Amino acid sequence: MGFRGVFVAVFLIGWANGQEIGVCMPRTQESDCQNIERGGSPAVCRRVETRIDCALNLARQQRDIGVFSEEEMILLSHQMPNENRVIASIRNVNRNEPFAFEAVAVVPASHTGGLEGLRGGRYCHPGFDQTELRWSPRVLKAFERAAARTDRCPGVNTASRTAEEMEVTTLSEFFGSACRPGRWSMNTTVDADLKRRFPSLCSLCGENTNCTQYNIDMGISVSGVNNNNRHIQALQCLVNNNNGTVAYVAWQHVREYFNIRSPELATSYALLCEDNSLRVLTSELLASTTAPCAFVRQPWGAIVASAPQASAVQSSLQSFWPNGVDPGGFSWQSALFGALVGGTNALVVFLENPPTPLEYTQGIRNFTRVEASSSCTPVHRWCTRSAQEQAKCTWVRNSAFTLGLEPIISCQQRTNTFECLDDIRNNNADFIASRSNYGYLSRQHYRLTAVKLVQNSRSNPESFSRVAALVKETSAQSDITRFENLRGKRACFPEFGGIAYMAFVRAAQDNGVISKSQCDYAQAVGELFDSACAPGALANSHALGDSSWNATSLCTVCRPSVSVVGENFTCAYNHTNLFYGNNGTVQCLADPENHVAFVEMRNMRQFLQAANLPETAVRGLCRNNTLALTTGIVNDTNCLLASVVDSEVLARRNDPITNSLNALLDTLDFYFGYNSAAQLVNLKIYSAFDGINDLLFLNTANGLSEPSSFDENEEANNYNELFRHLDACTGFAPGLASSKVSILALIVMGFITRYVF
Ligand SMILES: *[C@@H]1O[C@H](CO)[C@@H](O)[C@H](O)[C@H]1NC(C)=O
Ligand SMILES: *[C@@H]1O[C@H](CO)[C@@H](O)[C@H](O)[C@H]1NC(C)=O
Ligand SMILES: *[C@@H]1O[C@H](CO)[C@@H](O)[C@H](O)[C@H]1NC(C)=O
Ligand SMILES: *[C@@H]1O[C@H](CO)[C@@H](O)[C@H](O)[C@H]1NC(C)=O
Ligand SMILES: *[C@@H]1O[C@H](CO)[C@@H](O)[C@H](O)[C@H]1NC(C)=O
Ligand SMILES: *[C@@H]1O[C@H](CO)[C@@H](O)[C@H](O)[C@H]1NC(C)=O
Ligand SMILES: *[C@@H]1O[C@H](CO)[C@@H](O)[C@H](O)[C@H]1NC(C)=O
Ligand SMILES: *[C@@H]1O[C@H](CO)[C@@H](O)[C@H](O)[C@H]1NC(C)=O
Ligand SMILES: *[C@@H]1O[C@H](CO)[C@@H](O)[C@H](O)[C@H]1NC(C)=O
Ligand SMILES: *[C@@H]1O[C@H](CO)[C@@H](O)[C@H](O)[C@H]1NC(C)=O
Repeated sequence: MGFRGVFVAVFLIGWANGQEIGVCMPRTQESDCQNIERGGSPAVCRRVETRIDCALNLARQQRDIGVFSEEEMILLSHQMPNENRVIASIRNVNRNEPFAFEAVAVVPASHTGGLEGLRGGRYCHPGFDQTELRWSPRVLKAFERAAARTDRCPGVNTASRTAEEMEVTTLSEFFGSACRPGRWSMNTTVDADLKRRFPSLCSLCGENTNCTQYNIDMGISVSGVNNNNRHIQALQCLVNNNNGTVAYVAWQHVREYFNIRSPELATSYALLCEDNSLRVLTSELLASTTAPCAFVRQPWGAIVASAPQASAVQSSLQSFWPNGVDPGGFSWQSALFGALVGGTNALVVFLENPPTPLEYTQGIRNFTRVEASSSCTPVHRWCTRSAQEQAKCTWVRNSAFTLGLEPIISCQQRTNTFECLDDIRNNNADFIASRSNYGYLSRQHYRLTAVKLVQNSRSNPESFSRVAALVKETSAQSDITRFENLRGKRACFPEFGGIAYMAFVRAAQDNGVISKSQCDYAQAVGELFDSACAPGALANSHALGDSSWNATSLCTVCRPSVSVVGENFTCAYNHTNLFYGNNGTVQCLADPENHVAFVEMRNMRQFLQAANLPETAVRGLCRNNTLALTTGIVNDTNCLLASVVDSEVLARRNDPITNSLNALLDTLDFYFGYNSAAQLVNLKIYSAFDGINDLLFLNTANGLSEPSSFDENEEANNYNELFRHLDACTGFAPGLASSKVSILALIVMGFITRYVF
């Protein structure tokens, strides 16, 4: 059947079923859509943020088909074992093998004692940075876990040690020497420290490699065998160090090495199986595309369909691609093949009676589910604030577990940020990514600290938290031109102790309208203004210290959003308070009785509109005590009261878990952030999940940075400096607020401030 025949047949099927095929299309591939939807094609692009979203959509029958990587198939078998059906595997025309790879251990045929017999021996590993076969950390470590039992940590004090440190410690005690190139930790400090402390695990790599690669005598060069391939190098490392050595490599490269390159050596070597038996590499064995035993067998990636559509979609695809390969031509069938399966070597193998993801993988690769697993480091508990956030966290937890990332994450659902902060303080949870709006309260009230700050997009100034003071233009033209004029006025804040409130306190101190020795920030602000709306000012969750001052005047400007007869007082820190939040604060300013608003600039244009305030009706009061040159949205950095990162990851101060948590966050950023070149599981922690923004992290995040770093990241420095300045007054630890300490600190801080800004 030529191209025309296929076209007609498909057209008839499509027409007979009258059915579109909704294809999951990741945002990055949207340009393919025009081609696959061309004349007569039943395929319709349905956008998805990630392939995880695609799986969720398939299960709800909102999409019909999607493509999943090898590791994603494993993930699905754990997280969505029975939803959806696998209609075809995606293989390679040159490698018609049942598995994407098999990971095997090769030893000299004279080896005795099984896995335990390797104690004190030598270990040749292809490396943690090799991407050719898309080995996840779980795969990369499967052999050493079995041999050295790196999952057991007898007598090891786990407190304050990273998972990487415990693993490498156990390994270095088991193997006498090794080459295990690549990054052992995604945290560069931890990695460098471990490389320095455990040089024996790099000693077989050769001279001057810093454990980044092999630099060994590769002997002869033979056509068909790539001497730069890491698996071939690991096998050479085995051959060069014949006695007591093991190489952990892919079966396909074992066959290359011993069939093509060094057949004369083959029978001197054997596979070491997990049951401690040996299989000598005879020519019969080497002739087989499958290994006699393997530590890991990986199922191929696959095309997955929504269960009710599976057989119909499968027969459609079979008619589009009768040979399982790209039908070519400039047809939409070819375009669909390219967009879904891709690559000139791809081969689609349709499966009879489409299995569930669990059925697809369980005969090939099994491992304990995350619920039943343990690891040397304690589980790190992520606090979530909603059911949707919990759902995203659970996918992150399972994805991380599938890839073998450690420590294990758990997800604990609460109803809001404050419950989470409370839980973390009380050691009922360990960390949360939280808006910088809560930065001061988290430090002061909840005694937490930042493990990481997020990085915001530099190309989008709106992604930062940028606080300004806005006065009405009528006031600016008459009575409010300087900070001093704010005395006795009515003020609006999004939240008590929030970033806008604290940025104001700081600017007011610098401009001399609040005394630098007044460390009760409720009283300081309350006594300056006639009255204000600072939602939360009376709440225990927001207390900034043991203030005996009556903060009622910080709430009298607030209004309930739904008025109840006789009830006119609210200080609620949710939208039942009309003036809560940045939008509410603009609404508050719009009230003719109120004079000044301290507010973050994100979405300001929209908020002004909603409050019926023209941009010409407001003007910034700049931190250098002058009015902004123009009316409207303040975007001049020098006029802002603060320009800081918009969120951070918080944890308990001085907790032993900190190092391990810090390294875990670097690991998550590497595998699920924006910097991962070879993404094994297409889940993005900084992007929308299942159509919902700002879960776990704000979508404005695009990476993580160290809280202590003094690099070019000006907004991170500003953020640290803001709190350092305020600390100088109150002190973080109880008892540190003694006035002598404060005054000395203030002198020092005043000096620094002058240079930072
Ligand atoms: C190895 O690392 C050290 C320190 O990180 C560096 O100074 C040196 O240049 C590196 N050497 C090589 C060959 O990359
Ligand atoms: C291998 O090493 C062990 C211990 O180092 C030694 O006893 C044995 O003789 C060696 N075997 C060969 C073949 O070199
Ligand atoms: C995986 O587990 C299932 C059920 O326990 C078992 O039937 C199957 O043989 C296992 N597969 C492998 C490859 O171990
Ligand atoms: C605080 O002041 C308000 C009115 O100014 C009063 O109604 C309230 O009882 C006072 N609260 C306390 C705890 O003294
Ligand atoms: C609430 O207070 C505002 C401002 O003082 C006033 O305009 C309004 O009438 C009051 N509402 C009620 C229900 O008392
Ligand atoms: C809003 O806050 C008030 C006072 O803190 C509380 O009573 C109320 O339950 C909250 N409402 C919602 C919807 O969270
Ligand atoms: C502010 O936005 C929230 C939703 O983000 C909404 O519930 C609330 O009503 C808005 N408030 C005002 C005053 O518009
Ligand atoms: C700041 O805002 C003004 C007026 O809204 C606009 O003309 C100007 O381009 C903005 N500047 C920047 C740097 O965004
Ligand atoms: C204060 O800052 C504004 C905004 O950057 C600037 O235009 C003005 O010249 C500054 N005024 C003084 C007195 O430094
Ligand atoms: C790595 O982790 C340590 C804590 O273990 C932390 O101090 C450091 O800042 C982290 N980041 C980098 C990039 O090394």
